Amino acid sequence: MSLLVEGLAKRYGDTPVFGNVHLRLEPGEFVAVVGESGVGKSSLLNCLAALDTWSEGRITHDGTDLGALDEAQRAHWRRRHLGFVFQAFHVLPHLDVAQNVALPLLLLNQSDDARVAAMLDAVGLQGMGARLPASLSGGQLQRVAIARALVHRPAIVLADEPTGNLDPDTAARVMDLLQAQTREHGSSLLLVTHSDAAAGRADRVLRLTRSGLQRD
Ligand SMILES: Nc1ncnc2c1ncn2[C@@H]1O[C@H](COP(=O)(O)OP(=O)(O)OP(=O)(O)O)[C@@H](O)[C@H]1O
Ligand SMILES: [Mg+2]
Repeated sequence: MSLLVEGLAKRYGDTPVFGNVHLRLEPGEFVAVVGESGVGKSSLLNCLAALDTWSEGRITHDGTDLGALDEAQRAHWRRRHLGFVFQAFHVLPHLDVAQNVALPLLLLNQSDDARVAAMLDAVGLQGMGARLPASLSGGQLQRVAIARALVHRPAIVLADEPTGNLDPDTAARVMDLLQAQTREHGSSLLLVTHSDAAAGRADRVLRLTRSGLQRD
């Protein structure tokens, strides 16, 4: 079930962003990706999520060539195998906390209120299921986003600076959660971060530059 990236390159028009990216993300592994602003970390994550296209190279997951899938197949692959935590939370404002967390299960026709409640417990939001996102703090919103990314027990969790908007104590608690929850289900975690504290928790730290992804 590993995610394999071979010779990946990304250009926007004629402008190269990165090239020669090789990566094997194993089940249960926690990899941090660091690199200067603008080097293409978010672009790389979007490619790995099959949310964006790439210019060269191949991404395969458990033998499935993501580049060969059409839009509908990519969406289906994401729903089944992927959890994504965005820097800016992307919690849906008109849904309450429990409805936000339940969304991935709903999309899989696997609605499960008990699982949602257990997930809210796990991230310390018990009793807050009926609250609207506008009434939550930044740390609480990020915990909703993490619960939503994990509720369907995806094999791969991609997180783009999930602690970027949080104070150090809240950031540490959010990282504890992300690690504990991915470890519990044997998921792979790929984390993009500018934080040394967050990167220091990873099994491997890789640095993205124009010429590829290397051990830091
Ligand atoms: N849709 C787009 N069209 C054209 N250029 C883009 C697009 N999205 C990103 N870029 C450019 O690609 C480069 C990489 O952007 P990206 O957001 O992936 O960087 P990043 O490493 O995530 O940076 P940061 O650490 O600031 O989040 C930047 O120069 C950016 O301006
Ligand atoms: Mg970015």
